[in-house]
Amino acid sequence: MLLTDTAGYREWRAVKLDSYPNSAAELVTDIDGLTHLIPQQKEEILACCNRANMAIYSCRDRQANRAAIRTFAGSFGLSRIDHHLCATDDGVSELTVTDGGLRGDYVPYSSRSLSWHTDGYYNDPSRRLQAVVLHCVLDAAAGGRNAVLDPEIAYIHLRDANPDYIAAFEHPECMQIPANNNAAGEIRAAVTGPVFWYDAVSGALRMRYSARKKNIRWRNNALTKAARACLTDLLGDEDGPVLRFTLKPGQGLISNNVLHDRTAFVDTTERKRFVYRARFFDSISGCEELS
Ligand SMILES: [Fe+2]
Repeated sequence: MLLTDTAGYREWRAVKLDSYPNSAAELVTDIDGLTHLIPQQKEEILACCNRANMAIYSCRDRQANRAAIRTFAGSFGLSRIDHHLCATDDGVSELTVTDGGLRGDYVPYSSRSLSWHTDGYYNDPSRRLQAVVLHCVLDAAAGGRNAVLDPEIAYIHLRDANPDYIAAFEHPECMQIPANNNAAGEIRAAVTGPVFWYDAVSGALRMRYSARKKNIRWRNNALTKAARACLTDLLGDEDGPVLRFTLKPGQGLISNNVLHDRTAFVDTTERKRFVYRARFFDSISGCEELS
């Protein structure tokens, strides 16, 4: 729809680029605590989400547990939580280095780096993740830095480079994730879908993406390849719109599932990185939707 409305797109693009932050520091809001958010603090967080589809909050009261994460997320209309494979019963994951077991098979539960992706890029269309809350209880002794990018900025960059890149990324067979199998059998069937699509109700831009070299089957044509190369260049550009930060204890990121990566990190016996993660099928309520 955006591709056909050139005037509307130009107007939206100008506003978006004008308000997009130059640094992660512009997205930080100090709050009292996860469970006692005052209206002004909530408004500040929503203002950041309107600029960049994400906000970083910093709690004065560092008390945090899984229930508090859900209460905080609920303040922003995030209630339909993803009970995925490695989450606890209430759907909130505890990201910390885990050896062995099911969690030990997955990179988020290791100290290895994570390449660029949106969360749940491997989910089928009925379980597409719209929002994520990451809350840092303890940062690593070294490393564990995140880079993030609003998918709307990626869209603009790609469309400016070549509008056909958008069409390539909207193709329903653009990106396939093969079935996930372990020794016990198939955990998840293969999932094929676009990189970009639009929410059926709000018209908001949605994105699924993974930079992983293994286990992703891309549509095999020149435009898809060129679009991927263009996105890779953008995400790797040190002087571009990518924002970088390391969450400190009591800080968190709330986002409409923005693009992100994570550097490798080092734990010590005294300092072991611990991050809560909750993922939702809702998007942040009160955040303007692109239409
Ligand atoms: Fe992630």
